[in-house]
Amino acid sequence: MTQHPDAIAPHGGQLVNRIATPEEKAEFLSKADFLPRVQLDARAVSDLEMIAIGGFSPLTGFMNQADYTRVVQEMRLANGVVWSIPITLSVTTEIASPLSEGSLIRLDNPNGKFIGVLHLTQKYLYDQTQEVINVYRTDDTKHPGVQVVYNQGSVNLAGDIWLLERHPHSHFPAYQIDPAASRQMFQDKGWKSIVGFQTRNPIHRAHEYIQKCALETVDGLFLHPLVGATKEDDIPADVRMRCYEILLEHYYPKDRVILAINPAAMRYAGPREAIFHALVRKNYGCTHFIVGRDHAGVGDYYGTYDAQYIFDEFDPGELGIVPMKFEHAFYCTRTKQMATTKTSPSQPQERVHLSGTKVREMLRRGELPPPEFSRPEVATELARAMQA
Ligand code: ADX
Repeated sequence: MTQHPDAIAPHGGQLVNRIATPEEKAEFLSKADFLPRVQLDARAVSDLEMIAIGGFSPLTGFMNQADYTRVVQEMRLANGVVWSIPITLSVTTEIASPLSEGSLIRLDNPNGKFIGVLHLTQKYLYDQTQEVINVYRTDDTKHPGVQVVYNQGSVNLAGDIWLLERHPHSHFPAYQIDPAASRQMFQDKGWKSIVGFQTRNPIHRAHEYIQKCALETVDGLFLHPLVGATKEDDIPADVRMRCYEILLEHYYPKDRVILAINPAAMRYAGPREAIFHALVRKNYGCTHFIVGRDHAGVGDYYGTYDAQYIFDEFDPGELGIVPMKFEHAFYCTRTKQMATTKTSPSQPQERVHLSGTKVREMLRRGELPPPEFSRPEVATELARAMQA
C-alpha cells in the first residue's frame, strides 16, 4: 500500500505483517504434527494476533530478555524505541524444558487449534515481582493485571511469530479493520487528523462528550473498543458493540466516525497502558489519542490523571501520536449540559457522574441509568442484556 505522504508513520517506522504467506502456511501445515506444541491462553492469542496484523509494530514476536528487561525498567525496547508493556509468552518450566532454542514451535489456541508458529530464539527466567511493581505500580494480587502475571509460568519464550491465517472475527467480522485497512480507509476519506478512542466499557455520555470535543478539532474519530480478554465483571464485548451501533445510528455524523474492534486484551496497567494504547492506535493510523480520567485503571491503584502525566515523561516526537487529555466529565445540572470543571461553574452536588460499577449495580437491580448518564436507547439495550 502506498501511504499518503502526510500519513502518520507506524511506531518504529514499518508496519509489521506476520501473517503467513500461502507458501509459509502450506509448509507449517505440513510440519504441524511433528512440531512441539504450546497452548496459548486468551491473552496470548490476542497478542499473537496483534503482533501479526501490525497493531504492535515494531514487535515481530514475543519479547526477548533484552527488550523485556528494558521495557520493564525504562519503558523502552533494547533499541531505545518507546514501549511500555511487556509482550511475553510465559510458560511453566515443565512446558519450557523440552523446547530447544532455534526450533519452530506450534502455537495452539485454548481449543487445541493450530493458529501460529514461534521461532523460539530464547528461553529466559524473569522476576514477576519486578515486573508487577514496575508495570502495575503494585504487587497487590487483587489487581487483575498483577494476578495474571503471578499466575503465569516462570519462563518466557521469545522469538518471531507467524499467524497461520487471518480469520474474520467470530462475532464482529464487519468491524475487523486491521491497521493496514484502517490506514487505507483514513486515506480514502481524506482524513489527515484522526483521534483514536480506547474503551472497555459501555458507552456513556461522558465518553460521547470527550469524543465529540475531540472531533471538533480533528477530521475523524476512530472508535476502537477493546474486545480481547477483560476482567470477569466488565460488560461483554457484544453488548458494548450493540450500544455503539445504537449510539452511532442516532447521535453521530456517519461520515466522521469509523467503528472498529481492537482485538487486544486488557492489562489494567493504568498509566503504562495509556502509552501502550496510544502507540497501538498510532499503528492503526491515528494522529491523536484520547486519555480521560483514570485511563485503563482499576480500583484505586492509580491517581485520576496519572495516565495523562506519564505522557510528559517522553519527547512528543518519539511517541509520534498526540494525547488529547480530558478532565473528569459529568452532566452539569446548572448549565444542563455535559461539562468538566474547566467549563462549568457547578458545585459538586450539581454534577451527575456515575461510575461503571454503580451503573452495573443499577442494571442488576433492574433500574435504568438516568438520561444524564446514558442515552436512553443505550440504557434500554444494557438493561435488556442484563436481564437476558
Ligand atoms: S478504559 O479502561 O478503556 O480506559 P473506559 O472505557 O471507561 O475505560 O474509558 C475509555 C476512555 O474514556 C478513557 O480514556 C477514559 O479515561 C475516558 N473516560 C471514561 N469516563 C470518563 C469521564 N467521566 N470523564 C473523562 N474521561 C472519561
